[in-house]
Amino acid sequence: MKIDTKIFGRLSGKEEAYLFTIQNSNGMIIKMSNYGGTVISILAPDRNGQFDDIVLGFDSLEDYLEQHPYIGTLVGRYANRIAGGRFYIDDREYRLAQNEGQNHLHGGLKGYDKILWDFNEYADQQRAGVMLSYRSFDMEEGYPGNLKLDVNFSLNDNNELTIEYTASTDANTHLNLTHHGYYNLNGGKYLIYDHELFINAGSYVETDKNLIPTGELIPLKGGAVDFRTMKPIGRDISKLENGYDHCYVLNKKAEGPELAARVNNPASGRIMEVYTTEPAIQFYSSNFLEGLNGKNNIEYRKHLALCLEAQHYPDSPNHPHFPSTLLKPGDIYKQTTIYKFLAE
Ligand code: BGC
Repeated sequence: MKIDTKIFGRLSGKEEAYLFTIQNSNGMIIKMSNYGGTVISILAPDRNGQFDDIVLGFDSLEDYLEQHPYIGTLVGRYANRIAGGRFYIDDREYRLAQNEGQNHLHGGLKGYDKILWDFNEYADQQRAGVMLSYRSFDMEEGYPGNLKLDVNFSLNDNNELTIEYTASTDANTHLNLTHHGYYNLNGGKYLIYDHELFINAGSYVETDKNLIPTGELIPLKGGAVDFRTMKPIGRDISKLENGYDHCYVLNKKAEGPELAARVNNPASGRIMEVYTTEPAIQFYSSNFLEGLNGKNNIEYRKHLALCLEAQHYPDSPNHPHFPSTLLKPGDIYKQTTIYKFLAE
């Protein structure tokens, strides 16, 4: 296992962002940056041992500094939407940035995707990776509480990318962290319609036209949104207005990470499994992707990639019957999510 560190580029304030190249003994290589905790590329083998880059990303730091839809980044403090950009804690109202119409999306104007994280890289026999750290200050993007955050990205010889999150606060706050990789197991050669998907969920969070939860959970009983049995993503996608952008409530049995989703790309034989400790997973079929020039000269367009974002339900602070995202002083927030790459 090894890791190599070099300068990726400079931010406008001249701070240096770093590029880490993490390699395991099977030849799998992950490139990532401490800018936004961004995973830039993942080289994974197909059934013939051929490596291809299976995540979307950009060549240079400058590209990442332009507006883009969280391609490969960390997302926080609150991944997904908060209705009206506001919530109450102990009868006090907190107002957040309304960066998607009236609503708050993915942590606001300057979320964790745009932070230059402190880092500590490491490599040993078991794994290699980078521990990212950030102190998110009280009222940053409108959220109360100073938060201490650590996010550990590591690769091991089981071809697992593990992301472990730890956080603590000095005042009551809401927290919902995720990672927003855009995967195409065929190296971005075609749209994801031939990728087959299984999601280990029995229901999903009903939302309105702005993707804000109504408060209802809808049991899966067949139909376009049902992935309880593996099926090609392209089979029913045209039955939905833009594609998939749904939060699935996972079948949880234990405390530790459990299988949330499995993606199979028959053309290459590549398989990705997602394991998580989180109660839900957002399946997003890159419905609003367009007009971006990605690395390897690929033009990014609608339905080119899929995101499987482990998280809590959207807008939980405003739905007391949803699993709570409230973090209190003395509590430790923990999440483990694993992306495992196989080939058959
Ligand atoms: C959301 C989408 C959004 C995308 C990019 C996903 O997590 O579910 O609605 O367009 O992120 O911001």
